[in-house]
This record gives sequence, structure tokens and C-alpha cells, in this order.
Amino acid sequence: MSEKTIKIGLCGFGIVGQGVYSHLTGKQAFLREQLGATLEVARIAVRDLQKPRDVAVSSSLLTTDPMSIAEDSEIDILCELMGGTGLALDVTLAALRSGKVVVTANKALLCDHGAEVFTAAAEGGGHVLFEASVAGGIPVIKAINEGLIINDFTSIYGILNGTCNYILTRMTNEGLSYEEILKEAKELGYAEADESLDVDGIDATHKAVILAYLAHGRWVPFKDVLVQGITAVKQDDIAFAQENEYAIKLIAVIDRIHSNEKLYVSVFPTLVSKGYSLGNVDGVFNAISIHGDVVGQTVYVGPGAGRDATASAVIADIVDAAKHLIYGGSERRFPFLDPAPSNGETIELAEPSDIHSRYYVRLLVMDQPGVMAEIASVLASREVSLASISQKEVGGNATKASLFITTHKTSEQAIFDAMNDLEALASVEEKPFCMPIGAFKE
Ligand SMILES: NC(=O)c1ccc[n+]([C@@H]2O[C@H](COP(=O)([O-])OP(=O)(O)OC[C@H]3O[C@@H](n4cnc5c(N)ncnc54)[C@H](OP(=O)(O)O)[C@@H]3O)[C@@H](O)[C@H]2O)c1
Repeated sequence: MSEKTIKIGLCGFGIVGQGVYSHLTGKQAFLREQLGATLEVARIAVRDLQKPRDVAVSSSLLTTDPMSIAEDSEIDILCELMGGTGLALDVTLAALRSGKVVVTANKALLCDHGAEVFTAAAEGGGHVLFEASVAGGIPVIKAINEGLIINDFTSIYGILNGTCNYILTRMTNEGLSYEEILKEAKELGYAEADESLDVDGIDATHKAVILAYLAHGRWVPFKDVLVQGITAVKQDDIAFAQENEYAIKLIAVIDRIHSNEKLYVSVFPTLVSKGYSLGNVDGVFNAISIHGDVVGQTVYVGPGAGRDATASAVIADIVDAAKHLIYGGSERRFPFLDPAPSNGETIELAEPSDIHSRYYVRLLVMDQPGVMAEIASVLASREVSLASISQKEVGGNATKASLFITTHKTSEQAIFDAMNDLEALASVEEKPFCMPIGAFKE
């Protein structure tokens, strides 16, 4: 009997696509032994045929038309590694409708169009696998779907953007400003030319939305996620964190609120205790802490991006898809074939009034009598109770001061209202900065 060949089409041959190709071909013999079949990259779509590439491929494989790969009946698995939500969506839907398996690393696509993509898979007989879309090389999607299948997920906390973690780590270790490190991160290629996807928390939010879907079966619209990036974090905040045994991390929270079972998804810079695992995950690494009702807490740490780490996750999906194509088996092996899981849409989303946390607040104020009392009175009027307050002179002339406040547990709504009131005071010189003090379930 001749050996089966599984044909793979790569749509995109950039950082991730070239990594997938080189490891797939480099370990082809090993994979053949494991699978009893050959995995062959049969076609590759790029935008520019003339572009020099680190990984050499035969020009006969290349096309500039990714849709032709989606429509090619010879292709079994299509890897969508182009990015974006335009052509990538069209190609993904076309492939799924023709019954192919689509492997994607595209978190923006799933966040914005997840329901549509899963519906197309269910209706067309295709499958979507997306391990690389969250936390790059960390197999967190497999962990949630397979290893932790018996669990209800009470809380998931994640450091999901390596660029932000790299910037915050260097601000902490080297005392440099956000702006200085961002400039260097761009030069080293750790940050994109347009850094906003990373530093404004958008990329982390895309991933948080996918994790919320996996854990709770509900696609939370991007606009309903409370997001704050790291651009307003200053050395003063880093110094406060260090003095008080905290680290500042951009933390995605996917929480089921204990009192009312509502689902809360947010991305905020957060004061994380150095005694908590995520407080010690530095540099470009990602980390996810998952709390399940059966297992308790598990923590996953590793490279969240990059050519090889991401290729590792994409190839795991390709191999899973190949096993399904070769050996068959229950389609239920793949997550959420039902595009709108019956329990998911009934989960209510939490309002800021449902969320309670301690907060850290930094204010730049005029250093004059009565200001402290005025601020305390604003906080009291919003029922925000002060836990500590300290002051630091700004500049040499003592006309301004930075105030560092921590609060007792208060609602997110109350702290947002208080921040707006404080910003409106004549004595407050710049937009107040505020972040939660994480109280993580262990
Ligand atoms: N890079 C990472 O570390 C990482 C980690 C996790 C997930 N991801 C996700 O993986 C995906 C790919 O990222 P990447 O970093 O590999 O991107 P990239 O380096 O920019 O590569 C994109 C590839 O898609 C091709 N392409 C773009 N538009 C096309 C079009 N209209 N027609 C044909 N080909 C087109 C490009 O062709 P040319 O080469 O000719 O320009 C390029 O080969 C994205 O969804 C990203 O979010 C990336």
C-alpha cells in the first residue's frame, strides 16, 4: 500500500510561515515515522514573488493568490499565516466551506470574526485549529481543551504580550523611561514599526477574547473589554512597585465572578506581588495562570512569539489535523464545533460595578495647602477608601508634587468615576494614572 501524503498550503511566508516550512521539512522523516504519512508543503502564497527570503523554496511552489490555495482540491490543510482580517478572513472561510482544516496564528481574525469562522467550519465540514494565536509557543489552547477538560475555569490571568513585558522589565531593571526602551525595542525588532497593537493592549485583548471563548464558550466583543495599555506607566510607578515588593505587568484577566457568575474580561497594567508566579515572569516571555475547579492552579510560561516558538505551535496543529485526516476519529476532538455553544451566549458580561479590587493611583498636583483634603474628599464622595498615601516633590521648586495612593477594595465603577472627578480638579495637573493591585486566586 502506498504511503499517504497530506498536502499543506501555506498562505504567508513571513516570520511564521518560513519557520513552519523549515521545521516541517527539516523534521519530515521524524514526522513520517510518527504519522505513517508524509507531510508535504505543496503550495505557498506570498505578496511579493521577488522578495529575498531567509528560507529557500522552489519558485514552482509560490503563488500570489492565496485564494487559489483555499480552492485547490489537492490541499488538505491550509495554514493562514498572512495576518489581517480582510483577505485572511476570505481565504479562511473559503477553505473551511470546502471542508479543509485551517490552521491559523491570527488572533485578530479570531477575535473579530471567531463566530463566523467557527460557523463556516461547522457548516462546511472543515476545522479550525489555532494554538499559535495565543501565547505563541506555549500550548495553552491544548491545555484548556484537552489537559484541563474536566475543569470549570474560575479565573485565567495572562501576560500575553511579550513586547509589553520586555518594555516593563527593562524599565524595572534599568531605570529607563518607556520612550527610551520602545525606541530601542523597535531597533532590535522586538516591537513593530506601529507599536500601538502591542503597547495599547490590543494584541493582548485579541488573545484574552480567544481564551474567554475557549474557557466559557462566549465570544466577547472587543469593544466590551476594558483595555488600558502600558504607555502611561512611568518610572515613578515602577519605583513604587519595587519599594512595595510588586512588579508591574500587563495582565489580561478572564474571570467568572464568584457572586454572580458573570464573565469579566480586561487588560490592564497591574501591580502583581513578587510572591505570585506571574510577578516573576520577565522579558519577552508570556505566562498564563489558569485556575480550574478540579485541578486548582496551573501556570504556563514560555516564549509568546518569534519564528521558531510560533512555528512549534503551528506544527502541533498541523500534526493534529494530519492525525485526524489519516486515522479519522471523533470530530469532537476539535473544540467547539457548535459555533454558538448553548451555554456560552447566556453568560452575562460583568459591568464595572460588578468588579472589586484594590487600586493604585498616581496624581500630579499643585503642592499647596488644601489639595490633599480636596482629593480625599473626592475619593470619599465616590466611596473610595484610602489605604495609603505618600508624596514626592517634583522638580526643585516644590510647586508640584506626585501623590501615590492605594485604596481599599472598591468597585471599578467607583474608581473610574473618582478618576474623572480628580482630573477635573484645578489642582490636578495631568490625567491621573490608576491600575489595579492584583489579588490573584492561587
Ligand atoms: N511573528 C510572530 O512572532 C507571531 C506570533 C504569533 C502569531 N503571529 C501571527 O501570525 C501571522 C503571521 O505573522 P508573521 O509575523 O509571520 O507576519 P509577516 O512576517 O508579515 O508575514 C506575512 C506573510 O503573508 C504574506 N502576505 C501578506 N498579504 C498577502 C497577500 N495579500 N497575498 C499573499 N500573501 C500575503 C506576506 O508576503 P510577502 O512575504 O511577500 O510580503 C508574508 O509572507 C499573523 O496573524 C500574526 O499575528 C505571529
